[in-house]
Amino acid sequence: MTNETANLKNSDAGKISKPASGSSKRAVVEVKNLYKSYYLGKEEVPILKGINFNVYDGEFLAIVGPSGSGKSTLMNMLGCLDRPTSGTVLMNHQDVNMLDDNQLAYLRGKEIGFIFQQFNLVPRLTAYENVMLPTYASKKPGIDYPKKAKELLKLVGLEERMKHKPSELSGGQCQRVAIARALVNDPTIILADEPTGNLDSKTSEEVLTFFRELNQKGVTIIMITHNNELALRTDRVVTIRDGLITSDENVEEHAIHMKEALEASLQTEIHV
Ligand SMILES: Nc1ncnc2c1ncn2[C@@H]1O[C@H](COP(=O)(O)OP(=O)(O)O)[C@@H](O)[C@H]1O
Ligand SMILES: [Mg+2]
Repeated sequence: MTNETANLKNSDAGKISKPASGSSKRAVVEVKNLYKSYYLGKEEVPILKGINFNVYDGEFLAIVGPSGSGKSTLMNMLGCLDRPTSGTVLMNHQDVNMLDDNQLAYLRGKEIGFIFQQFNLVPRLTAYENVMLPTYASKKPGIDYPKKAKELLKLVGLEERMKHKPSELSGGQCQRVAIARALVNDPTIILADEPTGNLDSKTSEEVLTFFRELNQKGVTIIMITHNNELALRTDRVVTIRDGLITSDENVEEHAIHMKEALEASLQTEIHV
């Protein structure tokens, strides 16, 4: 970890700042030849079939693909929630395969902030208590977590809702609590799986705008989605189909290729 990054990680929420542009790219996640199969009885069902890509510090990246293509399976590997059948995932240069379950849980708590489609908040806890939750498993010395949790809730616009329980909040507000919770341990990456899947279009828009603001403050975000329009709101789009990466391009290239594919399919329809 560079000093600059170490400082970033130790900074309070409001003080996160983007590393100077021009600094060399640092891979925070490296995925090498990743395979994952599930087993139905003795029969092997291959899901991920040789995935290779890196995620660099400060990126805002989408992993996009149709339902069933293996996105959530990949997220589980990136999030150290599951282990590969073969291949490696390096999280901040640490080989996930080398860790036992306890070490993996610790790494997860320290390096990754999760955001799920279903928000996954604890219903009986308040917004503030939900944000504090990850800090019970993994704490860094010298950080005033109660103060930080309050600052994060303020950052996501929920200063007035800290004592509310999830049932007293809207879907968008719940997702903002989940975002604050994901940030409380200053993770290396935010992993968001279909984060707007349960939200209306206006609220989805707010979440996307918020992700952009966070990214501008230096937070690395991986957003998993089946929605190509949403993917266009990031900077880099990795497309996965049937367990393989079929394209990995910056958002401008991706937009051009989407448009060309659409035009080609319209041409085909006209000629049929
Ligand atoms: N635990 C599991 N056991 C068996 N098959 C699974 C399991 N989880 C996912 N699958 C299968 O893996 C494929 C990819 O699933 P998933 O990664 O959830 O795709 P996506 O998130 O892109 O919709 C699907 O065909 C799904 O049925
Ligand atoms: Mg999924």
